[in-house]
Amino acid sequence: MKTIGVILAGGVGVRAGLGIPKQLVKIAGKSIVEHTLEVFQDNELIDEIIVMMNPGAIGELDYLRGSARFSKLTQILPGGKTRNDTTQLALEAIPETDCKLLFHDAVRPFIDDRIIEECVTALDSFDAVDTAIASADTIIEVGEDGCITDIPVRSKLRRGQTPQAFTAATIREAYRIAEGDPGFQATDDCGVIFKYLPEVPIFVVEGTAENMKITEPIDIHIADKIFQLQSSNVDPKHAELPDLTGQTVVVFGGSYGIGKSTVDLCREAGATVLSFSRSETGTDVSKRKHVRKALDQAVAQTGRIDHVVLTAGVLTIAPLNEAPRDEIKHTVRLNLLAPAYIAQESFAELQKTGGSLTLFTSSSYTRGRAGYSLYSATKAGVVNLTQALAEEWAEEGVRVNAINPQRTHTPMRTAAFGEEPSGTLLTPEDVAQATAAVLGNELTGQVISVRL
Ligand code: CTP
Repeated sequence: MKTIGVILAGGVGVRAGLGIPKQLVKIAGKSIVEHTLEVFQDNELIDEIIVMMNPGAIGELDYLRGSARFSKLTQILPGGKTRNDTTQLALEAIPETDCKLLFHDAVRPFIDDRIIEECVTALDSFDAVDTAIASADTIIEVGEDGCITDIPVRSKLRRGQTPQAFTAATIREAYRIAEGDPGFQATDDCGVIFKYLPEVPIFVVEGTAENMKITEPIDIHIADKIFQLQSSNVDPKHAELPDLTGQTVVVFGGSYGIGKSTVDLCREAGATVLSFSRSETGTDVSKRKHVRKALDQAVAQTGRIDHVVLTAGVLTIAPLNEAPRDEIKHTVRLNLLAPAYIAQESFAELQKTGGSLTLFTSSSYTRGRAGYSLYSATKAGVVNLTQALAEEWAEEGVRVNAINPQRTHTPMRTAAFGEEPSGTLLTPEDVAQATAAVLGNELTGQVISVRL
């Protein structure tokens, strides 16, 4: 039996108060609805996808039509006035009478494969399925006078999420009966089954806290953080080496440490790798002309640039009051200006290949550290640069990410902190393994932590 995912994106998002429908807000380089679509596209149990979009903004999704990335997406149609109207319009647009339907809120981008699979499988035994989680808060019922009228037993309560899944005949029948009811009012589709087909049991699949509905302004911030956390951990031991055959990788700072290992590993992955550094090629990444020359050389030699990786950086340990004046300029130039120059200069080539830029940050980006204040400030800057560029370049198909290696055994680190117990440090090869994996995947706008 065919399974169709219906993405409900017909709403306005009044409560988010953003001036555009919240499903179009970009987080981690992509609109919220696109993140949601990706999960359905990549799930093997989903055969087809339909998006029901806010009619006033439907043109904003034109770029998804016919895209190879979303091969299962067959229709983008205008939604209705209410969520239930939108569901009904979707039912009208689906010719199949005998199929499984999963209705999912576009603004729940953290839906995962486990939930989708449990919903689809549950439809083999039930005609209606809801997704819900336990309530951490006590739920109270309040009367018109503002006082409590009831406190239902918390252990029996659940908070409803989506997907809500149905066999097509069942949901059609429920809406057919509902249409005859002049007082019809509901906010979700299971509510329609519950009211008009009370004999149909509705099975409940366990949701997740992450499968939140982006509703209020604060939810955008929370969602941003969840995206960061979600894709943030790459375990180098399990990171697969991608196939980079036929691709050109340019590494700035590839003469030693993480840079050197990245060069070696990308070669192993089949790429043509050009390494530029002060010691090997006299390339000073804080000089725009040097960067330009290196990139031109890569194009002249290989005809293309698919990935640019910047591992060069500087870390000096000293309280700011004691830092030599030159040191300050040097740190900002190398750690922050160089990424900006390299980004600007390499964009045109990366756009041609749909390639990626990978920068390096440090765990000190989340909070400035005494002793290396400016270093941590520049690394926070790298993260903001990464996120902003990922958005600016999303439509041009260029990805931008920042690798955040945990403490790594590199000459730079040893010079700053001395010898440390080896078991507590990542090796440059570990970090290179994670970096190569990021070159080969679809991520953008992410800070990817590499952990032991
Ligand atoms: N939805 C829909 N058609 C509508 C209203 C809502 O498809 N007429 C979708 C929304 O786009 C969203 C999901 O249903 O993905 C949940 O809606 P909700 O966030 O509760 O409502 P919105 O209308 O989007 O937001 P608000 O109530 O704040 O205006």
